[in-house]
Amino acid sequence: MNSSTKQLVCLFVLLILLGTSCDAGLLRHKQYVEIKNLLPGEATLTIHCKSKDDDLGSHVLGPLGTFSFHFRPRFIGLTLFFCSFQWKNSPLYYYDIYKQSRDYDRCTDCLWGIQPNGPCLLNDTTHAYTICDQWNP
Ligand SMILES: *[C@@H]1O[C@H](CO)[C@@H](O)[C@H](O)[C@H]1NC(C)=O
Repeated sequence: MNSSTKQLVCLFVLLILLGTSCDAGLLRHKQYVEIKNLLPGEATLTIHCKSKDDDLGSHVLGPLGTFSFHFRPRFIGLTLFFCSFQWKNSPLYYYDIYKQSRDYDRCTDCLWGIQPNGPCLLNDTTHAYTICDQWNP
């Protein structure tokens, strides 16, 4: 191969590589996140979720009430949504409700139940909120 053929081959390979990585980005599945009030004693839960770019506003959830949103994860950088949670005389708790690095592979529909000790993700097999985590420190 002469050098201009080599350059053409290189350009071609580069374009294919770029094309595949873009496709991978565009084909990212949508994410659905639902937050359900599972507090005992008919407590009302106030939540407020945000990402770097979006403020989803403050929402008051009655017993078993839900709030949900969906989005397409970023292909440059990582999507992060964090929320505050408060009820009755509780402190203001925070939790990273969607962390792309943690959640992209484990749930397309990420269904969270909020309990006093922290949020629990629904187990798809048992349909119970048993995959529990702790509030952000
Ligand atoms: C969901 O529940 C099943 C059955 O109890 C269990 O085997 C599985 O490990 C659970 N999944 C997670 C992610 O905890």
